[in-house]
Amino acid sequence: MRQAKVTEPVWSALLAVHEGEARAPSPDWSAEERAGWDLYAPLAAGAGVGPYFFAQVGQSLDGRVATVSGDASAVSGHEGLCHLHRCRALADAVVIGVRTALADNPRLTVRHARGRDPVRVVLDPRGRLPDTTGLLNDASAHRIIMQSVPRRRPEGVEVITLPARDHVMNPHAIREALLARGLRRVLVEGGGATIAHFLEAGLLDRLHIGVAPLIIGAGPSGLRTAPIERLSQALRPRTSVYGLDTDVIFDCALDASGRASRSTWPTTAEETPAAIAASRA
Ligand SMILES: NC(=O)c1ccc[n+]([C@@H]2O[C@H](COP(=O)([O-])OP(=O)(O)OC[C@H]3O[C@@H](n4cnc5c(N)ncnc54)[C@H](OP(=O)(O)O)[C@@H]3O)[C@@H](O)[C@H]2O)c1
Repeated sequence: MRQAKVTEPVWSALLAVHEGEARAPSPDWSAEERAGWDLYAPLAAGAGVGPYFFAQVGQSLDGRVATVSGDASAVSGHEGLCHLHRCRALADAVVIGVRTALADNPRLTVRHARGRDPVRVVLDPRGRLPDTTGLLNDASAHRIIMQSVPRRRPEGVEVITLPARDHVMNPHAIREALLARGLRRVLVEGGGATIAHFLEAGLLDRLHIGVAPLIIGAGPSGLRTAPIERLSQALRPRTSVYGLDTDVIFDCALDASGRASRSTWPTTAEETPAAIAASRA
């Protein structure tokens, strides 16, 4: 495991890369600073590079992200929280499921790192999120709701309507809708069900699992993928491990060999917004 440190010069260089500048790690940096660069450089690559979807989970030693009663306020340590905010700052958009929006009321802004707030996207197929929810009413960033029901949303919130199968919208269609709006670097922030849909559809390029030294015992788990019967079916991503103060980040590269192949979603254009619009024309 490499200890990672994100100092101001390292973060400035990463933000510059995110803005499209060519930068390389400095030979003057310490080993910890170089590890900080290596952890975030794949997320930072900017304009001119292909789409990049990544997810991050902050969980306990026993794989929980909250208590049974829903307390998720301090699972990660301080550096783990900074890590989440760095991931937000390196994303054009951040995607969450409606259960996270309802349980945590997250702001989805960048406060524990320097950087711009990403576009906020909530997946709410049944239209359950109240109009009064904070992240919908803070206009400091563009807000998008993806839903399957005809429900009006507060002024300024963009609504994208997608069909759902058993209340689940095709992750490929979600991805295409984001790309069509120029949102190419996307953080899937949670919760476990939302990340699992993208992972099982083979749409994640990278997954960061942050483990903090606490044991919760019961509660929602960080990843809620479908059960498998044999370990030979398990995903085995190429993984690098970084220490961030009290937390440990497992940096999983989900290239072609590490991607899930269990998806039953069509990857053709048949359920994409463009195809739906064409079929209605
Ligand atoms: N520590 C962390 O890193 C972290 C981060 C985020 C959240 N959390 C915790 O995670 C828990 C919530 O996670 P969760 O797994 O229960 O739920 P979730 O992923 O937040 O939300 C799942 C819901 O979002 C909607 N959704 C997600 N993907 C969809 C898709 N492709 N198509 C249609 N709808 C989609 C569905 O809404 P419907 O239910 O309406 O069908 C689904 O049931 C909370 O306790 C929260 O505190 C922890």
